[in-house]
Amino acid sequence: MSDVPEPTRRPEWTALEDHRADTLPHPDLRALFADDPSRAQRYVVHVGDLRIDYSRHLVGDETLALLLELAGATGVFAQRDAMFRGERINVTEDRAVLHTALRAPRDAVIEVDGENVVPAVHAVLDRMAGFAARIRSGEWTGHTGKRIRNVVNIGIGGSDLGPAMAYEALRAHTDRGLTFRFVSNVDGADLHEALRDLDPGETLFIVASKTFTTIETITNATSARAWLLNAVGDERAVARHFVALSTNAGKVTDFGIDTANMFEFWDWVGGRYSLDSAIGLSLMIAIGPDRFREMLDGFRIVDEHFANAPAEANAPLLMGLLGVWYNNFLSAGSHAVLPYSHYLSKFTAYLQQLDMESNGKSADRQGRPVAWQTGPVVWGTPGTNGQHAYYQLIHQGTKLIPADLIGFARPVAGLGDELGAQHDLLMANLFAQGQALAFGRTADEVRAEGVPEEQVPHRVFRGNHPTTTILATELTPSVLGQLIALYEHKVFVQGAIWNIDSFDQWGVELGKVLAKRVEPALTTGADVPGLDPSTAALVAAYRERRK
Ligand code: F6P
Repeated sequence: MSDVPEPTRRPEWTALEDHRADTLPHPDLRALFADDPSRAQRYVVHVGDLRIDYSRHLVGDETLALLLELAGATGVFAQRDAMFRGERINVTEDRAVLHTALRAPRDAVIEVDGENVVPAVHAVLDRMAGFAARIRSGEWTGHTGKRIRNVVNIGIGGSDLGPAMAYEALRAHTDRGLTFRFVSNVDGADLHEALRDLDPGETLFIVASKTFTTIETITNATSARAWLLNAVGDERAVARHFVALSTNAGKVTDFGIDTANMFEFWDWVGGRYSLDSAIGLSLMIAIGPDRFREMLDGFRIVDEHFANAPAEANAPLLMGLLGVWYNNFLSAGSHAVLPYSHYLSKFTAYLQQLDMESNGKSADRQGRPVAWQTGPVVWGTPGTNGQHAYYQLIHQGTKLIPADLIGFARPVAGLGDELGAQHDLLMANLFAQGQALAFGRTADEVRAEGVPEEQVPHRVFRGNHPTTTILATELTPSVLGQLIALYEHKVFVQGAIWNIDSFDQWGVELGKVLAKRVEPALTTGADVPGLDPSTAALVAAYRERRK
């Protein structure tokens, strides 16, 4: 394995560096469109319901051809096929990476160590569906016989962000008779605010943790159990009010949850890729099993596209390659994701974990330090709000920030005619921003508007800010699945090119270990060995103020 060449040493990488040098300063979007207006049609790729327009990127045919050659040379296609086959491509944890099996059809055969995992996936989905139906119909009651009206998901990271994001995204499709809350932070305020107006007798807790050892989740779940027992005063209530989503039956039992109330998944599902496993139970209760399966179908549409579409029309591949172009050849350090949908308000936060936990790495798959940039900082909020906050910096600041603009042709069903009519204005903003970012406004254009000369430099928009515009018909469960899978595979492509393991997350371990070690110093003033002078001073200041 150690003879795998570093990506930067490959001739395909050097060819891109030369190409960049030839086209500096960056290719200009005005010139690119003037030379070839057809790029508005040619640089569009379709997958499922998504129309992905990448014409406003600082690339031409030659750039794209060179990027595709880099993908071939770095083994992206071979690695993709190995992932779909269930090979142990998560090398540092020696695990298969098979979130794609979670949305495979019932008759698919995907083997891990010679065992077909698809029947187990569907068995759990079927159990989840049965449970979700019982909660939604009122058949499953709490310990005192009351109907369950509140569902509280306790989890963190991938065991929170996925269901919380998807619940918001698909809110229009949820059962409005049920209240859903998502508790993640070990700050007791999170649980307090989630529970303060709920009736314990009507509340179901879903404890979501792949490992069932995560301190935030176990602490919150323990407090939630105390809250319940304080109200109902009978240990047997736990069986009616707590279910677990985990890979760790032993720890679930230790916590006091009967494994009959556990929905399992497997070590080949990464936390940040787990929404469509048992981790999605809260979402399934919210939208119902049929809508959940529609979401899985959406994931599958993009999986099949990623696996089979030709390279030059392969959406996740192209998006990944464009990111590599900016990250490694044009020195962009971040990537903005700007949805023009209130329902996607948590989408970028979800992608932050997906992308930054996957590709925030500085050792390659052979353990050598990387001498090239890996994952970008991913950030953003719904676009219209961002326009009145940080878009200023994107338009007129000094940084190159590639961005994805995501919008829908129709408002979600059920918004009503009056509010639905606001949709054109929302989308006008998306189109206007894409245009302004790409083409800006020149000094001559500013002058032609009669702006006084001393103000002209301040009113010029340099333009040339690259964007991808993702347009879908409507934010349905299937479309949400398509969007998530699109980004999952984009992240995969980039990790493959950078020769890093996108499926481990050792970088979160040190903080966890140190937090456990330092806690006694805070609570009892214990003399914790190994505290550095800076942390020791902070702990002392904290204890002084806490008195
Ligand atoms: O600490 C990072 C992490 O391991 C994430 O990868 C994961 O999604 C999160 O913690 C929660 O882990 P678990 O589901 O095991 O509680």
